[in-house]
Amino acid sequence: MTGAAVLDDKERLAVADPAGMLDEIAGAGDQARSALRIAQASSLVGPQPEVVVVAGMGGSGLAGDVVAALAFASSAVPVLAVKGDRLPAFVGPGTLLVAVSFSGNTAETLSAVEQGLAAGARVVAVASGGALAALARGRGSPLVTVEAPPGRMPRAALWSLLVPVCSAAEAAGVLPPLRDQVLAAAGALDAEAAALGPAVPTDANPAKQAALRLLDRLPVVWGSGQLGAVAATRFRTQCNENAKVPVVSAALPEANHNDVMGLEGGLGPGRVLVLLRDEAGEHERDGLRLAAALEALGVDDPVVRRAGEGHGLVRLARLTAFTDFASAYLAIARGVDPTPIRTLDRLKAAVSAASR
Ligand code: F6R
Repeated sequence: MTGAAVLDDKERLAVADPAGMLDEIAGAGDQARSALRIAQASSLVGPQPEVVVVAGMGGSGLAGDVVAALAFASSAVPVLAVKGDRLPAFVGPGTLLVAVSFSGNTAETLSAVEQGLAAGARVVAVASGGALAALARGRGSPLVTVEAPPGRMPRAALWSLLVPVCSAAEAAGVLPPLRDQVLAAAGALDAEAAALGPAVPTDANPAKQAALRLLDRLPVVWGSGQLGAVAATRFRTQCNENAKVPVVSAALPEANHNDVMGLEGGLGPGRVLVLLRDEAGEHERDGLRLAAALEALGVDDPVVRRAGEGHGLVRLARLTAFTDFASAYLAIARGVDPTPIRTLDRLKAAVSAASR
């Protein structure tokens, strides 16, 4: 059975989500609190760097986007997320390189660390184990070992990864003290799980409603402000990996300079626009820009989720709770198991076999 009926049926949901992705999403608040305890017990303090680079891929790499977005408004030093084997040429002894990989075995992240170490960067590793943890131990680099209960997928470990990456930036004086903000974000994740979780029926549950609107349509996702843009990326990657659907995502106001042309003539029956708005992070003209884009495209009923008030991490938590629940419900409404990522696994295995 697919579609609306399954989303409000506890037993059928359990069958449709055998590995418990919905429970993982609902547990994000506890995950953040536990990650805070682990990060606080780690020795991360180091000198203030000239630049921070966060290297990581996929669900792990998103932590770099978040730290860059948090640092945007307040950090005196640049913070850059890198997704690939190579680091920029400026990486050197003044660089703090935070390497983040849930498995600890992602080839691109390992190459980046090797380049960073060779260039004299100070490395902090965030991993559950694997080659990255071994490399950090061997080189005497600080390591935060993230929790990895059996079956947890990297994308379901966002807060386990994000909190220590933020803590490494905080310990180097790049982000302000984050303890209270992490605890507040954990509270927001709990509140969103109570509002968007599987027990809340579709007629009162915006994440289930969004999933049903997206069923058999191409989601076009725009995020506003630095954090809204990260949430738009998260929405795309969560829909890709959980629901196994393609998504178009973009950041505002840049979308007004190109993406709108791809939608000229309107969304039509095959596309739905999703707006992830972080109004606290928007420029004063962004609301006007967005209204003009909707008017020009004739869109009068986009799916809208707002980040609300509070610290950046709290606002991000509200948006990622929505992206994560909506993508898992979309998977289930499509009759797809949200957890396995067979094509991605096959691809990693093929690349690793070919490079041996
Ligand atoms: C899987 C997922 C992927 C991985 C990526 C990198 O759930 O989210 O995007 O995050 O393949 O692997 P790790 O995170 O182990 O470095």
